[in-house]
Amino acid sequence: MALTASDVTIHFGGVVAVNGMALDVMPGEIVGLIGPNGAGKTTFINCLSGTYRPNTGTALWQGDELIGLSPSALLRKGVARTFQNVASLHDLTVLDIAKLGAGVRRDRRTGGHLLDFFRSDRALEELLMESILAPLELNDVAHKPIQTLSYGRRKAVDLARALAGDPQLLLLDEPVAGLTSHEGMAMAAAVRDVRDRHGCAVIMVEHKMDVVMSTCDRVAVMAAGSKIFEGRPAEVQADPEVRRVYLGEP
Ligand SMILES: Nc1ncnc2c1ncn2[C@@H]1O[C@H](COP(=O)(O)OP(=O)(O)OP(=O)(O)O)[C@@H](O)[C@H]1O
Ligand SMILES: [Mg+2]
Repeated sequence: MALTASDVTIHFGGVVAVNGMALDVMPGEIVGLIGPNGAGKTTFINCLSGTYRPNTGTALWQGDELIGLSPSALLRKGVARTFQNVASLHDLTVLDIAKLGAGVRRDRRTGGHLLDFFRSDRALEELLMESILAPLELNDVAHKPIQTLSYGRRKAVDLARALAGDPQLLLLDEPVAGLTSHEGMAMAAAVRDVRDRHGCAVIMVEHKMDVVMSTCDRVAVMAAGSKIFEGRPAEVQADPEVRRVYLGEP
């Protein structure tokens, strides 16, 4: 089943940050969300992830309405997000943060808590090291406090936290921003790998067009709160209106 968001609108005083936004995402699909600064991309993700409650709109996921649910209720439904800016000033280790992410994970067949399925903390740690941290190249820093890591690695830890909850719908807000090109390529590969292995539905807000082109199956373009175009990556890149509004061409 898919995510079907429609007519999502939110005002902040006189500012209409998101205006009648609609987007569908199928399982196993990575949909890019691009647009100029202030277009409403993060606000739209915030509306889907329980951070904001939009003034109007619906977002049906596996037949259930997501709008109005708290972030923790959304996690139990398999909806996880990452953040555009990661500020990690505490001294939790990378593995601690992955464990926090795993703590919300439930076996969707039984409703049981993930932690119940492991005899020991050690077994959970081994699972997280192998299945979450190793693919993100975070194994070697698993026991380091997150504040000692580079910005790029902290963004990878934020993705690890989200993935540890075993999400089926993943909302990524600029996962590659602020990363070196090597880190960015590794991050994009990790997102594709997660989709391939778990069949997640992914919405990926991103400015870096090379990442969008190489990672997304479909791309939606927002400007001034609304969707102005949607299509395959090559169609989006070729569209004259998108080139004018977003890519800055005359
Ligand atoms: N809590 C808020 N209060 C007031 N205005 C807000 C709030 N959140 C977002 N906005 C406004 O909504 C608009 C959309 O902002 P948003 O952060 O969603 O843009 P964006 O597309 O994610 O931009 P960027 O590419 O720079 O991250 C902006 O005008 C912003 O100032
Ligand atoms: Mg943003």
